[in-house]
Amino acid sequence: MAPLPISSIRVGQIDDVQELIKSKPNKVPERFIREEYERGVVVSSLKTHHLHHQIPVIDLSKLSKPHNDDFFFEILKLSQACEDWGFFQVINHGIEVEVVEDVEKVAKEFFDMPLEEKKKYPMEPGTVQGYGQAFIFSEDQKLDWCNMFALGVHPPQIRNPKLWPSKPARFSESLEGYSKEIRELCKRLLKYIALSLGLKEERFEEMFGEAVQAVRMNYYPPCSSPDLVLGLSPHSDGSALTVLQQSKNSCVGLQILKDNTWVPVKPLPNALVINIGDTIEVLSNGKYKSVEHRAVTNREKERLTIVTFYAPNYEVKIEPMSELVNDETNPCKYRSYNHGDYSYHYVSNKLQGKKSLDFAKILN
Ligand code: OGA
Ligand code: NI
Repeated sequence: MAPLPISSIRVGQIDDVQELIKSKPNKVPERFIREEYERGVVVSSLKTHHLHHQIPVIDLSKLSKPHNDDFFFEILKLSQACEDWGFFQVINHGIEVEVVEDVEKVAKEFFDMPLEEKKKYPMEPGTVQGYGQAFIFSEDQKLDWCNMFALGVHPPQIRNPKLWPSKPARFSESLEGYSKEIRELCKRLLKYIALSLGLKEERFEEMFGEAVQAVRMNYYPPCSSPDLVLGLSPHSDGSALTVLQQSKNSCVGLQILKDNTWVPVKPLPNALVINIGDTIEVLSNGKYKSVEHRAVTNREKERLTIVTFYAPNYEVKIEPMSELVNDETNPCKYRSYNHGDYSYHYVSNKLQGKKSLDFAKILN
């Protein structure tokens, strides 16, 4: 998430969703009501468990052992997950449950604070860090049924220290601890992903340089008319990898687009959801997919997610890896670009499915 120059973007009135439901629990303002076509095929009415529609599960404990049969089987599963789904859940990832629960707790405490307190860390129009709604660029743009709090985490230069809250008292400490663990997990996953593409283990780490890591906490309050709104508009992530944690006892809310149908992702206990971002799609020359996804809301239940975006350093040049391109059988599908330029492009446009990646596509 590259910094944006603040221009005079007019975004109109942006209601805070938590405040809205406090004052008028049964009313959904016009600006949140989506067109019918945006709401897509209603998956909740499909018996998804009959359709074998569940994203693959990768057991990381099988990948921590030496290269035995289990190891190669799991790598194969990973490769299929990245090709067919762009999403998978990881179990036995080794991150202590206390670390995970702790960050959830401080995130929830943050969102539960009075609005005046949260407003000390505002997300200014055109920026993507702080508290508010991101990706809003005009007065008539529809709003998502969500409050967000986003922070640049690593390297330290991308941090805006004014936005790191002093309350809850343990927020920063807890987020630091969590982010360190997630960073290690991303490095590990990138090794396995490299192997699954037939590349040497360190290939991504070597090219990424000092990787950029950002976190976004998404709080989706209940909505009296969940069918009329979206929690988060459809998009693909600009990252290399995204790690999504859904708070304990979360209801289903994340949906991914597969075969033109929105498929819900059922949270597994103690699992993390991983998805391939635009950057890996480009580096793998389209073999691995950065899949479009969105979030929906629930009539009774709130939902909290903690999402980490892991990406190459802004200086890094991105293009399909030469090992994965073949002029005759697999021609190059994306042009080369600087990752910082892509990040800038990504955050200066509204979320619109996979449109961001048109930036890099070579059109025949
Ligand atoms: C995101 C995202 C989904 C969710 O933050 O990029 O896709 O369920 N979130 O919160
Ligand atoms: Ni996303």
